[in-house]
Amino acid sequence: MASVYEREFEFSRGDFEHIRDLVGERTGIVLSDHKIDMVYGRLSRRLRQLGIRKFTEYLSRLRDDEQELVEFTNALTTNLTSFFREPHHFDYLRTTGLQTLIKNRPNKKLRIWSAGCSTGEEPYTIAMTVKEALASYPNWDVKILATDLDTNVVNKAKAGIYTQDRVNGIDQTRIKKWFRKGRGDEHAGQLKVASELQDMITFKQLNLMHEWPMSGPFDIIFCRNVVIYFNKDTQRELFDRYANYMANDGYLFVGHSESLHKVSDRFKLIGKTIYHKAR
Ligand SMILES: C[S@@+](CC[C@H](N)C(=O)[O-])C[C@H]1O[C@@H](n2cnc3c(N)ncnc32)[C@H](O)[C@@H]1O
Repeated sequence: MASVYEREFEFSRGDFEHIRDLVGERTGIVLSDHKIDMVYGRLSRRLRQLGIRKFTEYLSRLRDDEQELVEFTNALTTNLTSFFREPHHFDYLRTTGLQTLIKNRPNKKLRIWSAGCSTGEEPYTIAMTVKEALASYPNWDVKILATDLDTNVVNKAKAGIYTQDRVNGIDQTRIKKWFRKGRGDEHAGQLKVASELQDMITFKQLNLMHEWPMSGPFDIIFCRNVVIYFNKDTQRELFDRYANYMANDGYLFVGHSESLHKVSDRFKLIGKTIYHKAR
């Protein structure tokens, strides 16, 4: 690899390594060599906005600009998500997981965590699933905590406003029930999640690598398509912490390419990427 790219901004191998170390320390995200173009592309926008010509200059700015560190982190997260992504998780919750928890919770209380919630599609899907499954069980106290490292996606999630193409996969009955169509020129083509769902969810910025301010225990934890970006040691620590924050009969859902095999023995596999806490 040439030491300096002939591109709009001066970017060396050393700059990439500096960025890789910084991101690894701050977020647990591992940037392998094949992410070099992605890193250049995403951070170039920041340099352009700030009127900076070289990555070395940008990196020295990061040393004492806390706000820019937030922008830097936001630029390097991958936020791909959708409503009812990996639908078998929600089928399992509806038919089995929630039914079991309903029987096991005489206090009628459920606590759910969507860790790495991105722009909110995941926690809103959980909320729809829970509301539908509990429709004939009145007076349940259900709270969903939805967290992400990236401040931009947390704000978007909180707003709960989506364009038509984001909800295309959801059936019409659900759209009618759980979304309100935007009115007027400004909101045409947009849909807002019903306040009934929003009221169940607390959105917060949280770095999973830091202290967790909540106390748990959670009955259900979703941590999907987040740990693929972490190394095995980080995954080990994280799943151990999840086990400590989970009720003994709790459920953990991970992403389609994620597995706890050789990572944690505190959970047992009970379905496709679905785990129960091991007792
Ligand atoms: C690919 S999205 C997955 C979204 C959703 N869970 C899903 O499966 O559709 C991964 C999310 O993890 C978040 N993330 C990455 N590292 C994190 C960390 N250290 N703490 C909290 N969130 C993190 C990213 O900001 C991103 O929004």
